[in-house]
Amino acid sequence: MKENQNPKAIYLKDYQKPDYLITSTHLEFYIDEDKTLVKSKLDIYRNPELALNNLSLPPLFLNGVDLALNSLRCDGRELGQSEYQLSEEGLNITVSKSEFTLEIETLIKPRLNTALEGLYVSKGMYCTQCEAHGFRRITYYLDRPDVMSSFEVYIEADKNQYPVLLSNGNPLAKGDLKNGRHWARWQDPFKKPCYLFALVAGNLQCVEDTFIRRSGKPVALRLFVEQQDMDKCAYALESLKHAMAWDEKVFGREYDLDIYMIVAVNHFNMGAMENKGLNIFNTSCVLANQKTTTDAGFERVEGVVAHEYFHNWSGNRVTCRDWFQLSLKEGFTVYRDEEFSSDMGSRTVKRIDDVNLLRSFQFKEDAGPMAHPVRPASYIEMNNFYTSTVYNKGAEVVRMLHTLLGAEKFREACDLYFEKFDGQAVTCDDFVACMETVSGKNLTQFKRWYSQAGTPVVEAQATYDSQSRNYLLTLKQSCPATPGQDSKESFVIPVNAALFSQAGEKLSFSINGEVKTKACLLLLDETEKTFVFTDVAEAPLPSLLRNFSAPIKLKFPYSAEELAILLSHDDDGFNAWDAGQQLSLNILKSLIKDVQEKRPLQVDNTLLAAFTKLLNKKNLDKALLARLLTLPNKSYLAEQFETIDVDAMITAHNFLEQALAKNLYELFLKCYQENISTENYKPNAQQSGQRSLKNVCLHYLLLSASEHALMLAETQFKEASNMTDQNTALRTVVHSAYVYGASKSYLSLRASLLNNFYQQWQKEALVIDQWFTVQAMAQSDDIVNIVEKLLSHEAFDFENPNRVRSLIAAFAQNTAGFHQRDGKGYQFFALQVQKLNKINPQIAARLVAALVHWRRYDSGRSVLMKAELEKLMAMPDLSKDVYEIVSRALN
Ligand code: TRP
Ligand code: ZN
Repeated sequence: MKENQNPKAIYLKDYQKPDYLITSTHLEFYIDEDKTLVKSKLDIYRNPELALNNLSLPPLFLNGVDLALNSLRCDGRELGQSEYQLSEEGLNITVSKSEFTLEIETLIKPRLNTALEGLYVSKGMYCTQCEAHGFRRITYYLDRPDVMSSFEVYIEADKNQYPVLLSNGNPLAKGDLKNGRHWARWQDPFKKPCYLFALVAGNLQCVEDTFIRRSGKPVALRLFVEQQDMDKCAYALESLKHAMAWDEKVFGREYDLDIYMIVAVNHFNMGAMENKGLNIFNTSCVLANQKTTTDAGFERVEGVVAHEYFHNWSGNRVTCRDWFQLSLKEGFTVYRDEEFSSDMGSRTVKRIDDVNLLRSFQFKEDAGPMAHPVRPASYIEMNNFYTSTVYNKGAEVVRMLHTLLGAEKFREACDLYFEKFDGQAVTCDDFVACMETVSGKNLTQFKRWYSQAGTPVVEAQATYDSQSRNYLLTLKQSCPATPGQDSKESFVIPVNAALFSQAGEKLSFSINGEVKTKACLLLLDETEKTFVFTDVAEAPLPSLLRNFSAPIKLKFPYSAEELAILLSHDDDGFNAWDAGQQLSLNILKSLIKDVQEKRPLQVDNTLLAAFTKLLNKKNLDKALLARLLTLPNKSYLAEQFETIDVDAMITAHNFLEQALAKNLYELFLKCYQENISTENYKPNAQQSGQRSLKNVCLHYLLLSASEHALMLAETQFKEASNMTDQNTALRTVVHSAYVYGASKSYLSLRASLLNNFYQQWQKEALVIDQWFTVQAMAQSDDIVNIVEKLLSHEAFDFENPNRVRSLIAAFAQNTAGFHQRDGKGYQFFALQVQKLNKINPQIAARLVAALVHWRRYDSGRSVLMKAELEKLMAMPDLSKDVYEIVSRALN
């Protein structure tokens, strides 16, 4: 590691207010072949809050990375060498006045920027990404979110190549120059931190729409895309209008500019970015049409478009004081987009999908070496903290506040928050303080959710006394140690609970003198607490943590029969599903034990009966049924074990899926056929639910190893009117290699589908991503070779994060392939991380997370994984992004 001998951590406890502030920022961009000249004019003044107790003027430090300084003037006078110092991190300037204007000229090279931070070029188009620390790669600046300035931007470029020139806010003027160049001037009327700055210059088409605000004022909606993508814009624009109307209705928030622009770019490190008035999106999160986009893709577009829109209030109008407060905007905004999507589709199904994601990824993160609180206490590279913990667990924390306060008080508190802090950069404490003010509750203990990492475990035990008709439920909480936090204090855990009879009927009860007929909220705010339910008619079956009322692991000793009762009777759709998951999980666990102890494997009758019942049930929501018929994924299954036995886990999982497939073949076939539809495609909840049910059935049909199933998949592939059906047909065929073995007809079908798919879609980048992913996720002894070969495919590109994710990150999700016993999967993978470390450190660091859980695997694998981490650690030029993850993993 050359550039970062000792990358140092930044601590929340060291936060200090900025010495200087910026009133206005004038930027000029002169875009040229291989270099861009950036002129900036900053009106800077001494922070008056600090000036009171300190009359001397501290030096001014401006962040700047990879910049060539051309000139530096203060109040019109060129500064001499002795008046400033340059370093790798920025520019230190001696200051003699409390108010002055700096003029800075820097040169940057966007074409060589493959890290995709700052100003870079994607497929010939200039664009920016400034969160979290990208602006310092454009010019010297106070690159911190608590410095908010007005911005005026001038852009000049070749008119032919870059006919569209955009920045935040409103267009002021534009004009032509000689030499075929032109210019545009933009002004943002809202003060903002520089991480919300954006600039775009490219050859783009614009698809327009209008939204009428509830105040009656129109907003022009402009979506900028490449010519060939103009047929993929309608859904994002519809989603945007829905989001705008929803935020007015549900949060009372109206949009504040007359134009809202979104630009789609091919090269992007994340999903999208909420730059004020000019969102920049990964094409994968904005483009959609039925031919190229799956239902999951449509859902993602709707969710991300809404997410970025909601940031206009939760993030832009009220922003973060420092990056430790990231969840202030992200957790809250994810909560808002989850609620929006629930209202657009099925609330229960959305909740199931969100919790499934949280349990599969966030729980894992919280149990590993990268575990950190929702409000982290330190970081080396901020980009590493855009995590599932900050986003998804952060959203759960906001959801708990909603639960504790009730809908009305929660809304009031949000109103107070937006009004009180409009135009300011604030903290998570400020947010919670609004919740306290409005509700009168003391949330001091609740705030441990922000500062303590780890997933709490709640163990529940109960006794029923038929004489007194009392039911005593004892809840006991604990939380495992996480790095830097050996012991934890009790959390405030809201546990929503209901009681059922053994026949599956809701039981009424009294608690704290109140009669309840539906459910009640138990507050576990001590290590252990016993709740007394009175007037309980019979020994009940408790339904606990309904709708997943807290991000914890709840343990209750249910029998298989009891879980089956809850599965078919719980009126909380989430808990019904969760009962099914627990039932399957218990069965998988005992199968794993059988494998380990070399006993023959047998299917469990309770599960067969439950699946049979589900498949015969009329009028069940189809999307919900599809999820009820899906076994817990391997990632969540692995989470259940201290030490993960990969081989036994895969054998057991495969066995159970195949056993269900074979035993219930006729039912799956019938359900499959009944759900083939000839309706015109719509990406709505009803249709996508039906498709997901049909496609789950196809998955099982192929696992039954029947030749007929292969034929059904082939027909579905050929006749598909939409990508959901075509992709599923391809995927189910490619993923059943381990079922059909070397059967000639299977191999030739697989080859022809893969080939046809590629030929048909080679011009559609987002579809080719799917093509790579399907292959990378297959269970096959040859998988490392297959993926390695795909790296040299003409369509593979290390500089495109979507493509890298589609192949390399997808491979890391392939449990059997990645964790291949001989370690070839790890070796191959670490080699790719090494290449990416130079090209795009942010992406490399995200990938390497797949290796950090090495301690959890059997000794053979754990040694092999650790060896790869050590090799990475010893690399020259290790980026601080990768360094932070690897060093924490090895610590
Ligand atoms: N703020 C973005 C969001 O809506 C996240 C984001 C986009 C981001 N691009 C990024 C974060 C690059 C870090 C680096 O969630
Ligand atoms: Zn966000």
